[in-house]
Amino acid sequence: MSPIQAEIIAWYLANKRSLPWRETQNPYFIWLSEIILQQTRVDQGMAYYHKFVDAFPTVFDLAKADEQLVLNLWQGLGYYSRARNLHATAKQVVHEFQGVFPSSYEGLLRLKGVGPYTAAAIASFSFDLPHAVLDGNVFRVLSRLYNWPTPINSTQGKKDFEKMAQELLVQENPGLFNQAMMEFGALQCKPAQPNCHDCPIQVHCEAFGAQTVDALPVKLKKQIVRKRYFVFELIQSTPGTILMEKRHAKDIWQHLYQFPLREFDDAESKQVYLSNLNASFLSKEYKHILSHQHLYCHFVGRDMQSSDSAEPISILELDQYPIPRVIERFLEDYGLDIFESKAI
Ligand code: ADE
Repeated sequence: MSPIQAEIIAWYLANKRSLPWRETQNPYFIWLSEIILQQTRVDQGMAYYHKFVDAFPTVFDLAKADEQLVLNLWQGLGYYSRARNLHATAKQVVHEFQGVFPSSYEGLLRLKGVGPYTAAAIASFSFDLPHAVLDGNVFRVLSRLYNWPTPINSTQGKKDFEKMAQELLVQENPGLFNQAMMEFGALQCKPAQPNCHDCPIQVHCEAFGAQTVDALPVKLKKQIVRKRYFVFELIQSTPGTILMEKRHAKDIWQHLYQFPLREFDDAESKQVYLSNLNASFLSKEYKHILSHQHLYCHFVGRDMQSSDSAEPISILELDQYPIPRVIERFLEDYGLDIFESKAI
């Protein structure tokens, strides 16, 4: 064993919490605990674990249980689809696997609701198979130990951390080491105020040396995508001309030209507008994707109204104006003929 591995295991044996699912290798109990712990913290999860184990001592009991009872026991954990999935997986184990949990990582992955993390947990805790678990705690420990800056929720980051976790794993005792890593992250190498001054692997910790502990792990912020609902209005003031306006606002497409635009906050209000509009023409929907925005665009033809204030330009000069890509897409699809049709 490397010094780091030995220190983490020694720390674990001295500091671990006594938790019921650590006293068993029964894959049904391990699976149950992991599904519950996906939903809540260890202290609250304990009561739920006991409730489920008492009510359903075997996977057969859970599989044949009344759904209402399963949901009642789940009450307080929220996200009831998880409880229904739990029930469905128990049925799958009984009907597809004769009540015996698969004993390989790949087999476990075939269970509904069991992903790489849960499969590695069951494989190592129940079957002593050398699959490293990667949960939030383990990501944090590894990112600090190796001062690793790649975001943990990026594709490259996941690859890097899987490799690091698998290389650090104690092959002869993967279950124990996985538990130790998770516990080390939960109690010692905590997200805020980690206990660095009293850490058994401080001398090995590259982030401690570089004073970057508090900045790790790096996580990409989930991009918030704004959805916008656009109706571009094709209005001929006189035959051969079309109204265009220049965009000035501090927004997308600044200084580009567009057909007069109406914007809506949601698909429903746009739909109401479109169905009340006496449009002479209605295009298909264009979904246009920008880095932080999804635009849902229609193009309609309608008659000029006195309130229309945009500038008329000659249709033949349209190509001299800089226009957004989505308008270009529309023109490529429908062609200039659309303006000459009697419809608009
Ligand atoms: N969180 C998720 N799985 C856990 C486990 N087996 N022990 C402690 N905390 C956990």
